[in-house]
Amino acid sequence: MFQPGVSLIAIPPGFYFRQLRPSDIEELKELHRALFPIDYEHEFYEKAVNGRDGIIGWILVDKRDMESGEESVAGFVTVRVQNLEDCDEMERELLGWTMLEHLMPWRRKGKQLVYILTLGVKECYRKSGLGRALIQQVQLSTLKIMNRTVSSI
Ligand SMILES: CC(C)(COP(=O)(O)OP(=O)(O)OC[C@H]1O[C@@H](n2cnc3c(N)ncnc32)[C@H](O)[C@@H]1OP(=O)(O)O)[C@@H](O)C(=O)NCCC(=O)NCCS
Repeated sequence: MFQPGVSLIAIPPGFYFRQLRPSDIEELKELHRALFPIDYEHEFYEKAVNGRDGIIGWILVDKRDMESGEESVAGFVTVRVQNLEDCDEMERELLGWTMLEHLMPWRRKGKQLVYILTLGVKECYRKSGLGRALIQQVQLSTLKIMNRTVSSI
């Protein structure tokens, strides 16, 4: 569950975050194919790189790729932002809202949920805290985008 107040992201030197952009689509597809057994539809990638239908994402770029001298993607995260009111029964239950909504139905109004769809770090970069940094990036960026109306991740 999201805890407000996350401040600094511990990214190792030589890395930086940026939001996905349309030119990332082919690399994003390749990374998903390499890391997940699911074949995501082209539409999912289109939405993620264009920030459509509440789907957005970030990549963590390694500036220090010694072999090519170029930047390379070390990890990625995609999320869906939705209104808490649009959550289905199972999601509400997971979030502990079922009981709350009976007691205080007005508490869900206007609140948003950030759902992590995919998160991945290339094998050679793992166990260095990059996965954790990607999640922190989601917390910080969505807070900025939604002006502090995020109640759960
Ligand atoms: C899961 C994944 C993103 C973690 O990336 P990472 O950069 O190695 O993670 P971090 O180094 O930031 O580790 C953060 C914490 O998660 C733990 N962790 C990492 N991978 C884990 C896994 N597969 N299962 C359980 N815990 C895991 C680490 O031990 C660490 O905990 P600690 O700080 O208490 O030791 C990476 O292993 C990956 O891309 N896996 C394949 C895709 C996947 O399964 N994605 C998640 C579902 S969408």
